[in-house]
Amino acid sequence: MRLRFFTGIILGLLSVLTFFPVSAQDVFRPGQKWPDEAGRHINAHGGCLLHYGDTYYWYGENRPFRGFTTEVGVQVYSSSDLLHWKDEGVALAVSDEEGSPIERGCIMERPKVVYNEKTGKFVMLFHLELKGKGYAAARVGFAVSDTPTGPFRFLRSLRPNAGVWPVEFGRKDRKKAQQLKESDYKEWWTPEWRKAIREGLLLKRDLPGGQMSRDMTVFVDADGKAYHLFSAEENLTLNLAELTDDYLDYTGRYTRIAPGGQNEAPVILKHNDTYWLITSGCTGWAPNEARMFSASSLWGPWTQHPNPCRGPQANRTFNGQGTYAFLLPGTEDSYIFMADVWNPRHLSESRHIWLPVEFDADGKPLLRWRESWSLGEFAPSR
Ligand code: GAL
Repeated sequence: MRLRFFTGIILGLLSVLTFFPVSAQDVFRPGQKWPDEAGRHINAHGGCLLHYGDTYYWYGENRPFRGFTTEVGVQVYSSSDLLHWKDEGVALAVSDEEGSPIERGCIMERPKVVYNEKTGKFVMLFHLELKGKGYAAARVGFAVSDTPTGPFRFLRSLRPNAGVWPVEFGRKDRKKAQQLKESDYKEWWTPEWRKAIREGLLLKRDLPGGQMSRDMTVFVDADGKAYHLFSAEENLTLNLAELTDDYLDYTGRYTRIAPGGQNEAPVILKHNDTYWLITSGCTGWAPNEARMFSASSLWGPWTQHPNPCRGPQANRTFNGQGTYAFLLPGTEDSYIFMADVWNPRHLSESRHIWLPVEFDADGKPLLRWRESWSLGEFAPSR
């Protein structure tokens, strides 16, 4: 009798599961393993999404199971529903040519791909560190392709805005910055050092060769203008730099955001004509508390707000670090916030956190933790 009862329950459960299959891919499961169509965890970290035609593309760092350097390149996956992903291979491959800036063993991080309406090209910007140089090079790489899956052609790498001052630096500010000497500030973190950083101690140091460029993103505004946002000045200061119409160079207009504030992992989105910037602090692979800033113009002024995360581990960004905010096509402000749960022992195994961005009554972004969710949870009125 008891056996029949349990058999009945099991059969009942099985039939429910057959009708409503609960597999990893039917809902977003932040922080869980995310297998692609071949059953392999998606190896696209520090990445971004792009919608083109009827297809979504997910670009990210192809990371090795062991070690920290780039052995393959930037990986690309495709999907029609954002849940099921097909590995499309390597979008930008490392080079086997000795001395190439993207020689196997370099470090390629945080690739961002945008489509340029004017040129019809797919443009990739990424953080590049040269082989054998640790994180000292602090450069940005540019690559281009006629198709979303590539192969992308590497164009060049550089440090942005050599010889150019930020827009907010008037004649007096430049003069003051020119007089600052690094040798006068051997000790970091003192009030005098902080003031000197704000006044451009490192900005001026890097002026001749261009500003350092590490963690980064690319933002395309409604008017089609694109901006490169990156951690400069030894990761102390963010720069927002306008790109030329073809997205392959800088116009020379740029601004510093939160000088001396130590922000990394920039993620940018727009809601009701306000730009929102979500960043992390600088603790390497270890998670920390997210920060948030807003401005009514990309040129500032930027105001800091409290951490937008809510729920367990909210003060550690749910153990992740932001990488991109993806605007769902056809919506004004339905964004997916993407983050990485870094696994420095096995970088390829680093997990992905995707969460819907909510907005509170004042229009401020909120990132609420969810064990699972689906696209239907975006407000249908939008
Ligand atoms: C993090 C950064 C990552 C990677 C890592 C290396 O702070 O966000 O993209 O550069 O440091 O330690």
